[in-house]
Amino acid sequence: MLNPDPAPTAPAIPELDGEQLREAIAGELQAARDRTRLLTDSVDDGELTAQHSRLMSPLVWDLAHIGNQEELWLLRNVGGRDPMHPEIDPLYDAFEHPRAARPSLPLLPPAEARRYAHEVRGRVFDLLGEVKLAAGPDAAAPLLADGFAFGLIAQHEQQHDETMLITHQLRTGAAVLTAPTPAPAPGSALPAEVLVPAGPFTMGTDTEPWALDNERPAHLVDLPGFAIDTVPVSNAAYQAFMADGGYAEPRWWTAEGWAHRMTAGLSAPLFWQREGGQWLRRRFGHLEPVPAEEPVLHVTWYEADAYARWAGRRLPTEAEWEKAARHDPATDRSRRFPWGDEAPGPQHANLGQRHLQPAPVGSYPEGASPYGVRQLIGDVWEWTASDFTPYPGFRAWPYREYSEVFFAAPGKPAEYKVLRGGSFAVAPVACRGTFRNWDYPIRRQIFAGFRTARDLVDGR
Ligand code: AVJ
Ligand code: FE
Repeated sequence: MLNPDPAPTAPAIPELDGEQLREAIAGELQAARDRTRLLTDSVDDGELTAQHSRLMSPLVWDLAHIGNQEELWLLRNVGGRDPMHPEIDPLYDAFEHPRAARPSLPLLPPAEARRYAHEVRGRVFDLLGEVKLAAGPDAAAPLLADGFAFGLIAQHEQQHDETMLITHQLRTGAAVLTAPTPAPAPGSALPAEVLVPAGPFTMGTDTEPWALDNERPAHLVDLPGFAIDTVPVSNAAYQAFMADGGYAEPRWWTAEGWAHRMTAGLSAPLFWQREGGQWLRRRFGHLEPVPAEEPVLHVTWYEADAYARWAGRRLPTEAEWEKAARHDPATDRSRRFPWGDEAPGPQHANLGQRHLQPAPVGSYPEGASPYGVRQLIGDVWEWTASDFTPYPGFRAWPYREYSEVFFAAPGKPAEYKVLRGGSFAVAPVACRGTFRNWDYPIRRQIFAGFRTARDLVDGR
Protein backbone atom coordinates (compact mmCIF):
# COMPACT_ATOMS: atom_id res chain seq x y z
CA MET A 1 0.00 0.00 0.00
CA LEU A 2 1.44 3.39 -0.97
CA ASN A 3 1.11 6.33 1.34
CA PRO A 4 -0.11 9.29 -0.72
CA ASP A 5 1.45 11.75 1.70
CA PRO A 6 3.92 10.34 4.20
CA ALA A 7 5.14 13.83 5.15
CA PRO A 8 3.09 14.22 8.38
CA THR A 9 4.78 11.15 9.87
CA ALA A 10 8.30 12.07 8.74
CA PRO A 11 10.82 12.15 11.57
CA ALA A 12 12.40 15.44 12.57
CA ILE A 13 16.03 15.37 11.48
CA PRO A 14 18.24 18.21 12.63
CA GLU A 15 19.12 20.39 9.64
CA LEU A 16 22.84 20.99 9.46
CA ASP A 17 24.28 23.98 7.66
CA GLY A 18 27.13 23.50 5.19
CA GLU A 19 29.91 23.88 7.77
CA GLN A 20 28.32 21.53 10.30
CA LEU A 21 27.75 18.99 7.56
CA ARG A 22 31.40 19.24 6.48
CA GLU A 23 32.51 18.61 10.06
CA ALA A 24 30.12 15.69 10.50
CA ILE A 25 31.37 14.12 7.26
CA ALA A 26 35.04 14.57 8.22
CA GLY A 27 34.32 12.93 11.59
CA GLU A 28 32.54 9.95 10.01
CA LEU A 29 35.28 9.40 7.42
CA GLN A 30 37.94 9.54 10.16
CA ALA A 31 36.00 7.15 12.44
CA ALA A 32 35.72 4.64 9.59
CA ARG A 33 39.43 4.90 8.81
CA ASP A 34 40.41 4.48 12.48
CA ARG A 35 38.45 1.22 12.51
CA THR A 36 39.90 0.06 9.18
CA ARG A 37 43.42 0.68 10.48
CA LEU A 38 42.75 -1.23 13.68
CA LEU A 39 41.50 -4.22 11.70
CA THR A 40 44.32 -4.17 9.14
CA ASP A 41 47.26 -3.12 11.36
CA SER A 42 46.54 -5.84 13.93
CA VAL A 43 47.78 -8.68 11.67
CA ASP A 44 51.03 -9.12 9.72
CA ASP A 45 51.39 -8.93 5.92
CA GLY A 46 51.10 -12.71 5.58
CA GLU A 47 47.71 -12.66 7.30
CA LEU A 48 46.59 -9.61 5.34
CA THR A 49 47.13 -11.37 2.02
CA ALA A 50 45.97 -14.84 3.14
CA GLN A 51 42.46 -16.11 2.59
CA HIS A 52 41.11 -17.11 6.00
CA SER A 53 37.89 -18.51 4.52
CA ARG A 54 36.62 -19.02 0.97
CA LEU A 55 33.58 -17.00 2.05
CA MET A 56 35.72 -13.92 2.57
CA SER A 57 38.23 -11.77 0.70
CA PRO A 58 41.82 -11.37 1.88
CA LEU A 59 41.82 -8.35 4.22
CA VAL A 60 44.15 -6.54 1.82
CA TRP A 61 41.43 -6.75 -0.87
CA ASP A 62 38.89 -5.02 1.43
CA LEU A 63 41.46 -2.31 2.18
CA ALA A 64 42.17 -1.41 -1.46
CA HIS A 65 38.47 -1.86 -2.41
CA ILE A 66 37.57 0.72 0.26
CA GLY A 67 40.02 3.15 -1.35
CA ASN A 68 38.88 2.30 -4.87
CA GLN A 69 35.16 2.90 -4.13
CA GLU A 70 36.07 6.16 -2.41
CA GLU A 71 38.11 7.24 -5.43
CA LEU A 72 35.27 6.28 -7.79
CA TRP A 73 32.38 7.98 -5.96
CA LEU A 74 34.09 11.01 -4.49
CA LEU A 75 37.14 11.89 -6.58
CA ARG A 76 35.78 10.85 -9.98
CA ASN A 77 31.98 11.09 -9.79
CA VAL A 78 31.72 14.10 -7.46
CA GLY A 79 35.09 15.77 -8.12
CA GLY A 80 35.40 15.03 -11.84
CA ARG A 81 39.02 13.85 -11.37
CA ASP A 82 40.71 11.36 -13.69
CA PRO A 83 41.24 7.78 -12.45
CA MET A 84 44.44 7.45 -10.40
CA HIS A 85 45.26 3.85 -11.43
CA PRO A 86 42.66 2.69 -14.00
CA GLU A 87 44.44 -0.65 -14.41
CA ILE A 88 43.53 -1.73 -10.86
CA ASP A 89 39.79 -0.93 -11.11
CA PRO A 90 38.73 -4.39 -12.35
CA LEU A 91 40.61 -6.10 -9.48
CA TYR A 92 38.46 -4.30 -6.93
CA ASP A 93 35.12 -4.56 -8.69
CA ALA A 94 33.13 -6.94 -6.46
CA PHE A 95 31.11 -8.14 -9.47
CA GLU A 96 34.12 -9.15 -11.59
CA HIS A 97 35.67 -11.63 -9.18
CA PRO A 98 33.90 -13.78 -6.56
CA ARG A 99 35.45 -13.71 -3.09
CA ALA A 100 36.94 -17.20 -3.44
CA ALA A 101 38.94 -16.06 -6.53
CA ARG A 102 40.37 -12.87 -5.05
CA PRO A 103 43.55 -14.29 -3.44
CA SER A 104 44.86 -15.36 -6.86
CA LEU A 105 44.49 -11.86 -8.37
CA PRO A 106 47.53 -9.58 -8.75
CA LEU A 107 46.33 -7.45 -5.80
CA LEU A 108 48.22 -4.44 -4.48
CA PRO A 109 50.56 -5.70 -1.75
CA PRO A 110 49.84 -4.39 1.79
CA ALA A 111 52.16 -1.35 1.68
CA GLU A 112 50.78 -0.23 -1.69
CA ALA A 113 47.16 -0.84 -0.66
CA ARG A 114 47.71 1.31 2.43
CA ARG A 115 49.41 4.05 0.42
CA TYR A 116 46.60 4.05 -2.17
CA ALA A 117 43.80 4.30 0.42
CA HIS A 118 45.76 7.03 2.23
CA GLU A 119 46.34 9.08 -0.96
CA VAL A 120 42.69 8.85 -1.94
CA ARG A 121 41.68 10.02 1.53
CA GLY A 122 44.03 13.00 1.40
CA ARG A 123 42.50 14.14 -1.89
CA VAL A 124 38.98 13.52 -0.53
CA PHE A 125 39.66 15.85 2.38
CA ASP A 126 40.82 18.49 -0.13
CA LEU A 127 37.63 17.94 -2.14
CA LEU A 128 35.48 18.15 1.01
CA GLY A 129 36.96 21.60 1.63
CA GLU A 130 36.07 22.76 -1.90
CA VAL A 131 32.59 21.40 -2.68
CA LYS A 132 29.42 23.33 -2.07
CA LEU A 133 27.48 21.42 0.57
CA ALA A 134 23.93 22.19 1.55
CA ALA A 135 21.21 20.59 3.57
CA GLY A 136 18.21 19.47 1.56
CA PRO A 137 17.79 18.28 -2.01
CA ASP A 138 20.12 19.73 -4.61
CA ALA A 139 18.83 19.00 -8.09
CA ALA A 140 21.95 20.38 -9.78
CA ALA A 141 24.27 18.00 -7.89
CA PRO A 142 22.09 15.22 -6.47
CA LEU A 143 25.10 13.23 -5.21
CA LEU A 144 25.95 16.19 -2.96
CA ALA A 145 22.48 16.77 -1.47
CA ASP A 146 22.93 16.48 2.30
CA GLY A 147 26.48 15.26 1.55
CA PHE A 148 24.97 11.94 0.40
CA ALA A 149 28.00 10.64 -1.57
CA PHE A 150 30.24 11.23 1.44
CA GLY A 151 27.71 9.46 3.66
CA LEU A 152 27.57 6.58 1.19
CA ILE A 153 31.36 6.21 1.36
CA ALA A 154 31.56 6.46 5.16
CA GLN A 155 28.88 3.75 5.37
CA HIS A 156 30.61 1.66 2.71
CA GLU A 157 33.91 1.66 4.62
CA GLN A 158 32.13 0.77 7.86
CA GLN A 159 30.25 -2.05 6.11
CA HIS A 160 33.59 -3.46 5.02
CA ASP A 161 34.86 -2.98 8.57
CA GLU A 162 32.11 -5.37 9.65
CA THR A 163 33.08 -7.71 6.80
CA MET A 164 36.71 -7.58 7.94
CA LEU A 165 35.67 -8.30 11.53
CA ILE A 166 33.91 -11.43 10.22
CA THR A 167 37.21 -12.40 8.57
CA HIS A 168 38.96 -11.86 11.91
CA GLN A 169 36.44 -14.18 13.58
CA LEU A 170 37.08 -16.85 10.91
CA ARG A 171 40.88 -16.67 11.17
CA THR A 172 42.60 -19.15 13.44
CA GLY A 173 45.63 -18.45 15.59
CA ALA A 174 46.37 -16.25 18.55
CA ALA A 175 43.92 -13.48 19.44
CA VAL A 176 44.85 -10.01 18.15
CA LEU A 177 41.69 -8.02 19.01
CA THR A 178 40.38 -7.26 22.49
CA ALA A 179 37.44 -5.29 23.85
CA PRO A 180 35.65 -5.04 27.21
CA THR A 181 32.88 -7.52 28.02
CA PRO A 182 29.41 -5.88 28.04
CA ALA A 183 27.89 -5.29 31.48
CA PRO A 184 25.34 -7.80 32.82
CA ALA A 185 21.71 -6.96 31.95
CA PRO A 186 19.69 -5.08 34.61
CA GLY A 187 17.92 -7.64 36.77
CA SER A 188 14.25 -6.70 36.31
CA ALA A 189 12.09 -9.44 34.79
CA LEU A 190 10.72 -8.66 31.33
CA PRO A 191 7.59 -10.02 29.66
CA ALA A 192 8.50 -12.70 27.09
CA GLU A 193 6.69 -10.87 24.30
CA VAL A 194 4.93 -7.61 23.53
CA LEU A 195 1.69 -7.16 21.59
CA VAL A 196 1.55 -4.85 18.61
CA PRO A 197 -2.10 -4.12 17.72
CA ALA A 198 -3.31 -4.21 14.12
CA GLY A 199 -3.03 -1.03 12.09
CA PRO A 200 -1.01 0.92 9.55
CA PHE A 201 2.45 2.43 10.05
CA THR A 202 4.95 4.21 7.84
CA MET A 203 7.70 1.86 6.65
CA GLY A 204 10.87 3.13 4.99
CA THR A 205 11.92 6.76 4.64
CA ASP A 206 11.91 9.83 2.38
CA THR A 207 13.71 12.08 4.85
CA GLU A 208 16.67 10.20 6.32
CA PRO A 209 19.50 11.98 4.46
CA TRP A 210 21.96 9.08 4.19
CA ALA A 211 19.40 6.27 3.81
CA LEU A 212 20.29 3.94 0.95
CA ASP A 213 18.03 3.35 -2.03
CA ASN A 214 16.46 0.13 -0.70
CA GLU A 215 15.14 1.97 2.41
CA ARG A 216 13.07 4.30 0.19
CA PRO A 217 10.39 5.46 -0.37
CA ALA A 218 8.28 5.82 2.78
CA HIS A 219 4.98 3.96 2.35
CA LEU A 220 2.07 2.92 4.55
CA VAL A 221 1.83 -0.74 5.49
CA ASP A 222 -1.27 -2.03 7.26
CA LEU A 223 -0.44 -5.04 9.45
CA PRO A 224 -2.64 -7.48 11.35
CA GLY A 225 -1.86 -7.58 15.08
CA PHE A 226 1.13 -9.65 16.14
CA ALA A 227 3.26 -10.46 19.17
CA ILE A 228 7.05 -10.26 19.07
CA ASP A 229 9.76 -11.38 21.52
CA THR A 230 10.88 -8.62 23.90
CA VAL A 231 14.52 -9.70 23.45
CA PRO A 232 16.48 -11.77 20.93
CA VAL A 233 16.56 -15.57 21.40
CA SER A 234 19.32 -16.38 23.92
CA ASN A 235 21.94 -19.13 23.86
CA ALA A 236 20.09 -20.78 26.78
CA ALA A 237 16.83 -20.85 24.81
CA TYR A 238 18.62 -22.13 21.72
CA GLN A 239 20.31 -24.87 23.77
CA ALA A 240 16.85 -26.01 24.92
CA PHE A 241 15.95 -26.50 21.24
CA MET A 242 19.20 -28.46 20.71
CA ALA A 243 18.67 -30.57 23.85
CA ASP A 244 15.12 -31.35 22.71
CA GLY A 245 16.49 -32.87 19.50
CA GLY A 246 15.83 -29.82 17.34
CA TYR A 247 18.56 -30.78 14.88
CA ALA A 248 17.26 -34.38 14.66
CA GLU A 249 13.59 -33.64 13.91
CA PRO A 250 12.79 -32.86 10.28
CA ARG A 251 9.31 -31.70 11.29
CA TRP A 252 10.69 -28.40 12.64
CA TRP A 253 12.48 -27.64 9.37
CA THR A 254 11.38 -26.65 5.89
CA ALA A 255 12.31 -29.24 3.24
CA GLU A 256 15.06 -26.96 1.95
CA GLY A 257 16.28 -26.24 5.45
CA TRP A 258 16.42 -29.92 6.36
CA ALA A 259 18.32 -30.74 3.15
CA HIS A 260 20.85 -28.05 4.01
CA ARG A 261 21.08 -29.17 7.65
CA MET A 262 21.95 -32.69 6.36
CA THR A 263 24.45 -31.80 3.62
CA ALA A 264 26.20 -29.15 5.70
CA GLY A 265 26.10 -31.37 8.82
CA LEU A 266 24.68 -28.61 11.03
CA SER A 267 24.30 -29.59 14.69
CA ALA A 268 25.06 -26.37 16.61
CA PRO A 269 25.79 -22.70 15.83
CA LEU A 270 29.04 -22.03 13.98
CA PHE A 271 32.12 -21.78 16.26
CA TRP A 272 30.54 -23.97 18.97
CA GLN A 273 32.17 -27.18 20.21
CA ARG A 274 31.20 -29.70 22.89
CA GLU A 275 33.80 -30.38 25.57
CA GLY A 276 33.51 -32.10 28.97
CA GLY A 277 29.71 -31.96 28.93
CA GLN A 278 29.51 -28.24 28.13
CA TRP A 279 29.34 -26.02 25.06
CA LEU A 280 32.34 -23.85 24.30
CA ARG A 281 32.71 -21.30 21.55
CA ARG A 282 35.67 -19.79 19.74
CA ARG A 283 35.45 -16.00 19.66
CA PHE A 284 38.23 -13.91 18.11
CA GLY A 285 40.90 -16.43 19.09
CA HIS A 286 39.59 -17.30 22.58
CA LEU A 287 37.84 -20.51 23.57
CA GLU A 288 35.21 -19.82 26.25
CA PRO A 289 31.98 -21.28 27.66
CA VAL A 290 28.89 -20.24 25.68
CA PRO A 291 27.28 -17.48 27.78
CA ALA A 292 23.67 -18.52 28.49
CA GLU A 293 22.23 -15.00 28.51
CA GLU A 294 23.75 -13.69 25.27
CA PRO A 295 21.66 -13.63 22.09
CA VAL A 296 22.45 -16.68 19.96
CA LEU A 297 24.85 -15.81 17.14
CA HIS A 298 26.10 -17.50 13.95
CA VAL A 299 22.99 -19.41 12.92
CA THR A 300 21.58 -19.78 9.40
CA TRP A 301 18.12 -18.55 8.46
CA TYR A 302 17.11 -22.22 8.29
CA GLU A 303 18.14 -22.81 11.92
CA ALA A 304 16.31 -19.66 13.06
CA ASP A 305 13.19 -20.76 11.17
CA ALA A 306 13.36 -24.29 12.65
CA TYR A 307 13.80 -22.94 16.19
CA ALA A 308 10.77 -20.68 15.76
CA ARG A 309 8.60 -23.59 14.57
CA TRP A 310 9.80 -25.74 17.49
CA ALA A 311 8.82 -22.90 19.85
CA GLY A 312 5.32 -22.81 18.28
CA ARG A 313 6.11 -19.45 16.73
CA ARG A 314 7.55 -17.96 13.50
CA LEU A 315 10.10 -15.37 12.39
CA PRO A 316 8.74 -11.81 12.18
CA THR A 317 8.35 -10.28 8.73
CA GLU A 318 10.56 -7.28 8.15
CA ALA A 319 7.47 -5.03 8.22
CA GLU A 320 6.60 -6.41 11.67
CA TRP A 321 10.18 -5.88 12.81
CA GLU A 322 10.15 -2.26 11.60
CA LYS A 323 6.76 -1.49 13.12
CA ALA A 324 7.92 -2.90 16.48
CA ALA A 325 11.09 -0.80 16.19
CA ARG A 326 9.86 2.54 14.82
CA HIS A 327 6.13 3.02 15.27
CA ASP A 328 5.08 5.24 18.16
CA PRO A 329 1.39 4.50 18.85
CA ALA A 330 1.09 7.69 20.97
CA THR A 331 1.84 9.97 17.99
CA ASP A 332 1.24 7.49 15.14
CA ARG A 333 4.66 8.48 13.79
CA SER A 334 7.58 6.29 12.71
CA ARG A 335 10.80 7.34 14.43
CA ARG A 336 14.40 7.00 13.28
CA PHE A 337 15.36 4.55 16.05
CA PRO A 338 13.46 2.53 18.67
CA TRP A 339 14.30 5.11 21.37
CA GLY A 340 13.42 8.16 19.28
CA ASP A 341 15.12 10.39 16.74
CA GLU A 342 18.51 10.94 18.43
CA ALA A 343 21.64 9.32 17.03
CA PRO A 344 22.67 6.12 18.83
CA GLY A 345 24.69 6.55 22.03
CA PRO A 346 26.33 3.88 24.22
CA GLN A 347 23.25 3.95 26.49
CA HIS A 348 20.97 2.91 23.60
CA ALA A 349 22.64 0.01 21.84
CA ASN A 350 25.70 -2.20 21.42
CA LEU A 351 27.14 -0.84 18.17
CA GLY A 352 30.46 0.15 16.66
CA GLN A 353 32.70 -2.78 17.73
CA ARG A 354 32.96 -1.27 21.25
CA HIS A 355 32.41 -4.85 22.39
CA LEU A 356 33.33 -7.90 20.34
CA GLN A 357 30.19 -9.81 21.32
CA PRO A 358 26.48 -9.15 21.88
CA ALA A 359 25.28 -7.86 25.26
CA PRO A 360 23.11 -10.15 27.45
CA VAL A 361 19.40 -10.21 26.58
CA GLY A 362 17.49 -7.53 28.49
CA SER A 363 20.31 -4.97 28.20
CA TYR A 364 19.84 -1.33 27.13
CA PRO A 365 16.48 -0.41 28.73
CA GLU A 366 17.06 3.13 27.34
CA GLY A 367 17.08 1.69 23.84
CA ALA A 368 13.60 0.11 24.12
CA SER A 369 10.97 0.95 21.50
CA PRO A 370 7.59 2.52 22.44
CA TYR A 371 6.09 -0.98 22.50
CA GLY A 372 8.83 -2.06 24.95
CA VAL A 373 10.91 -4.20 22.58
CA ARG A 374 14.63 -4.33 23.52
CA GLN A 375 17.86 -4.62 21.55
CA LEU A 376 16.31 -4.16 18.12
CA ILE A 377 19.34 -2.08 17.14
CA GLY A 378 22.81 -3.53 17.71
CA ASP A 379 23.96 -6.81 19.32
CA VAL A 380 22.94 -9.25 16.53
CA TRP A 381 21.53 -8.91 13.03
CA GLU A 382 18.05 -10.42 13.15
CA TRP A 383 16.86 -12.81 10.46
CA THR A 384 13.34 -11.98 9.26
CA ALA A 385 10.84 -14.14 7.37
CA SER A 386 11.03 -11.78 4.37
CA ASP A 387 12.69 -12.09 0.98
CA PHE A 388 14.71 -9.06 -0.15
CA THR A 389 12.35 -7.14 -2.45
CA PRO A 390 12.02 -3.48 -3.48
CA TYR A 391 9.51 -1.18 -1.76
CA PRO A 392 6.71 0.15 -4.00
CA GLY A 393 8.16 3.09 -5.94
CA PHE A 394 11.80 1.95 -5.53
CA ARG A 395 14.36 3.78 -7.67
CA ALA A 396 17.96 2.53 -7.90
CA TRP A 397 20.32 5.25 -6.59
CA PRO A 398 23.12 5.91 -7.18
CA TYR A 399 23.96 2.50 -8.72
CA ARG A 400 21.98 -0.65 -9.51
CA GLU A 401 24.59 -2.90 -7.97
CA TYR A 402 24.04 -1.64 -4.42
CA SER A 403 20.57 -3.22 -4.06
CA GLU A 404 18.62 -3.76 -7.25
CA VAL A 405 20.57 -6.71 -8.64
CA PHE A 406 19.94 -8.61 -5.38
CA PHE A 407 16.16 -8.19 -5.29
CA ALA A 408 13.79 -11.07 -5.83
CA ALA A 409 11.78 -10.27 -8.95
CA PRO A 410 9.09 -11.92 -11.09
CA GLY A 411 10.73 -14.82 -12.92
CA LYS A 412 13.79 -14.61 -10.69
CA PRO A 413 13.70 -16.86 -7.62
CA ALA A 414 14.18 -15.16 -4.24
CA GLU A 415 17.75 -15.80 -3.13
CA TYR A 416 18.19 -13.48 -0.16
CA LYS A 417 16.50 -13.09 3.21
CA VAL A 418 16.34 -9.71 4.94
CA LEU A 419 18.18 -9.10 8.22
CA ARG A 420 17.37 -6.09 10.41
CA GLY A 421 18.80 -4.10 13.28
CA GLY A 422 22.58 -4.39 12.97
CA SER A 423 25.11 -6.25 15.11
CA PHE A 424 27.73 -5.17 17.66
CA ALA A 425 30.04 -4.88 14.63
CA VAL A 426 27.93 -2.24 12.83
CA ALA A 427 28.84 1.45 13.07
CA PRO A 428 26.12 3.94 14.05
CA VAL A 429 26.50 5.68 10.65
CA ALA A 430 25.49 2.44 8.91
CA CYS A 431 22.55 1.69 11.20
CA ARG A 432 18.98 2.99 11.33
CA GLY A 433 15.47 1.73 12.02
CA THR A 434 14.99 1.62 8.26
CA PHE A 435 18.30 -0.08 7.35
CA ARG A 436 17.98 -3.35 5.40
CA ASN A 437 20.65 -6.03 5.13
CA TRP A 438 20.36 -9.27 3.16
CA ASP A 439 22.14 -12.59 2.78
CA TYR A 440 21.69 -16.18 1.65
CA PRO A 441 19.66 -18.30 4.10
CA ILE A 442 22.62 -20.74 4.44
CA ARG A 443 25.03 -18.08 5.72
CA ARG A 444 26.13 -18.10 9.34
CA GLN A 445 29.59 -16.56 9.47
CA ILE A 446 27.75 -13.21 9.68
CA PHE A 447 26.87 -11.80 13.12
CA ALA A 448 23.26 -12.99 12.87
CA GLY A 449 20.74 -14.16 15.44
CA PHE A 450 16.97 -13.69 15.56
CA ARG A 451 13.82 -13.19 17.61
CA THR A 452 10.42 -14.84 17.09
CA ALA A 453 6.84 -13.64 16.64
CA ARG A 454 3.28 -14.97 16.36
CA ASP A 455 -0.13 -13.92 15.05
CA LEU A 456 -2.62 -12.55 17.55
CA VAL A 457 -5.79 -14.55 18.11
CA ASP A 458 -8.83 -12.38 19.04
CA GLY A 459 -6.45 -9.47 19.62
CA ARG A 460 -4.39 -11.42 22.19
C1 AVJ B 1 24.61 -4.69 2.44
C2 AVJ B 1 26.20 -6.01 3.63
C3 AVJ B 1 24.92 -6.99 1.85
O1 AVJ B 1 28.69 -6.45 1.99
O2 AVJ B 1 27.63 -7.26 0.29
C4 AVJ B 1 29.57 -3.46 0.58
C5 AVJ B 1 27.29 -4.02 1.59
N1 AVJ B 1 27.87 -3.26 -0.75
N2 AVJ B 1 30.02 -3.06 -0.61
C6 AVJ B 1 27.77 -6.43 1.19
C7 AVJ B 1 28.24 -3.59 0.50
C8 AVJ B 1 29.00 -2.95 -1.44
C9 AVJ B 1 26.67 -5.38 1.29
N3 AVJ B 1 25.62 -5.76 2.30
FE1 FE C 1 32.05 -2.87 -1.20
